[in-house]
Amino acid sequence: MTDSSSALGLERAAVADACRRLGAAGLLIGTAGNVSVRVGERVAVTATGAVLAQLTAGQVSVVDLDGKVVAGTLRPTSELELHLGVYRRYGAGAVVHTHAPMATALSCVLDELPCIHYQLLALGGSVRVAPYATFGTPELAESVLGALEGRSAALMASHGALTHGPTLDKAVEHALLLEWACGVYQHAAALGTPRVLDEQQQRAVIEAAIVRNYGTTQSVPPAQEGNR
Ligand code: 13P
Repeated sequence: MTDSSSALGLERAAVADACRRLGAAGLLIGTAGNVSVRVGERVAVTATGAVLAQLTAGQVSVVDLDGKVVAGTLRPTSELELHLGVYRRYGAGAVVHTHAPMATALSCVLDELPCIHYQLLALGGSVRVAPYATFGTPELAESVLGALEGRSAALMASHGALTHGPTLDKAVEHALLLEWACGVYQHAAALGTPRVLDEQQQRAVIEAAIVRNYGTTQSVPPAQEGNR
């Protein structure tokens, strides 16, 4: 370990907590998956081979933006280049990769998860499936980075899913939303052909969400409050 500013104690605990939350939600299996959060020039990232659902802060290492370990005793995830690539190319604050069951099932079949529900717009709309490459390779990192263009989520063919967000909470929320949407797609596809929202419908949702500040609680205006 070098200086204390590279130790990121709070962030390492937050990454461990995020992993345990993802585990409790059923998105994790064994040592599969990896999670990271960026703080300035440092990234707190899960160790390779760790069981994420039971992760402790001691199993989170800190690297610089070139991937050099600056704090922690364990080797970072084999997908470190992918995580660093998401920070470099998309300016994300946090990255979550899982082998969540619904997302992984669709990644084995689809080329794209279509925008069948308006909540997918929180991820940028339809979710691309990045072409397959071996885990931990620059080829996989490049494939996933390409699939993320304009999106905060991608499926990874015959592998899993990746989401990012401005904060760790948002990246986790996106992972949960993606898994939910993949489950909805599977149920819908078992019943018939899922309808896909067209561009105009998608634009209308985005406009309505902006006008209403959708997804946030809002105070009743004072005049109406008095009538209650
Ligand atoms: P790590 O244990 O190296 O993080 O690998 C897990 C994984 O999911 C690879 O894609």
